[in-house]
Amino acid sequence: VQGRLRDKFGRSITDLRVSVTDRCNYKCVYCRTGNEGAQYTELSIEDYLRMVRVFVSLGVEKVRLTGGEPLLRSGLVDMLRELAEMRTAFMPDGSFAGDNGAPLDIALTTNGHLLDGLAQPLKDAGLNRVTVSMDAVDAETFSAITRVPRSYEKVLTGIRKAQAVGLGPVKVNCVLLRGFNDGQIERFAEFSRQEGVIVRFIEWMPLEEDRSWKRESVVSMDEIVQRLNAYRPLVELPANAASETAKRFTFDDGVGEIGIIAPVTRPFCGHCSRVRLTSDGKIRTCLFSQSDHDLYGEMLRGGTDDELAAYIRMIVMHKEARHHIGEPGFEKPSRNMVHIGG
Ligand code: GTP
Ligand code: 5AD
Repeated sequence: VQGRLRDKFGRSITDLRVSVTDRCNYKCVYCRTGNEGAQYTELSIEDYLRMVRVFVSLGVEKVRLTGGEPLLRSGLVDMLRELAEMRTAFMPDGSFAGDNGAPLDIALTTNGHLLDGLAQPLKDAGLNRVTVSMDAVDAETFSAITRVPRSYEKVLTGIRKAQAVGLGPVKVNCVLLRGFNDGQIERFAEFSRQEGVIVRFIEWMPLEEDRSWKRESVVSMDEIVQRLNAYRPLVELPANAASETAKRFTFDDGVGEIGIIAPVTRPFCGHCSRVRLTSDGKIRTCLFSQSDHDLYGEMLRGGTDDELAAYIRMIVMHKEARHHIGEPGFEKPSRNMVHIGG
């Protein structure tokens, strides 16, 4: 047994994000323009599971299912049941765990549209927690962003169901877009306090087809902090882990939790622990990778698990140092967010 998966900068790679489809039932304005091009292939659930197993044998401890919209994917509940059976390969001190490994941390990022009906089956299958993307706290703005009528009620019901069945505290992701939903920062804070969810504001990144991203449209972490402080004094919370994407806050009375994810103004690449698997079985070592690596192709060529593991080690070794958002010469990756996996 060799050690855990590491890259050439010494970052250890413990988080795997698996996109199980790039189909989505929403057409959010900052993500999809209707011209995203062809849909990529979806693999069988068994194929994803085999790849995940190899990643886990290399030290991955946390698996996040994404899309597209993962709840559109048939076989998802079965997949979760299988994931819940997998155990991590290493002890915290880095020694090999044999059969004593801990259960995986299994999370899901969804738009929440189908969550009301699926929360209980997902929980029963072994899902630990859920993150719901929700970019407004009123029905009208919400539909203007998702471009699906009556979506707000569905998502709100889904969040409440997830909380009720023990998938909480739900993390609610809000991508702030100037002129669209930046007027709702305070209302989101109230939402966190009332619903007992963790609201996370995310700086908008350039990952959309129509290249409409502009630095001026990004609502920065500093601006968000200022606005929240004016609403009610913020108190910083300690990080859960060095690789955490969000800076965490509560308010002066300890009610509510806010996370701010600032990939544009405060990149967190130095502590990145993530690697991605696209729905067509390609490894992407960064959200902004200019190329991907065909793990599924290696499988098709008859690669054994050991060979796949060696391939993964080699690819991960060359993980990018960081992204270059906003710098001269920045090139958006050829795939859009919906085709990479959130
Ligand atoms: P947990 O810590 O398990 O809750 O996961 P997470 O913080 O990764 O949660 P989530 O999947 O909700 O990701 C939150 C947001 O962080 C995403 O929507 C992205 O906007 C951003 N993000 C996630 N991974 C990366 C990454 O590798 N690079 C960059 N630049 N941003 C990322
Ligand atoms: N910038 C930042 N976050 C994004 N998301 C989708 N596109 C972008 C972008 N360009 C978010 C979604 C979802 C998560 C998977 O990624 O809102 O919460």
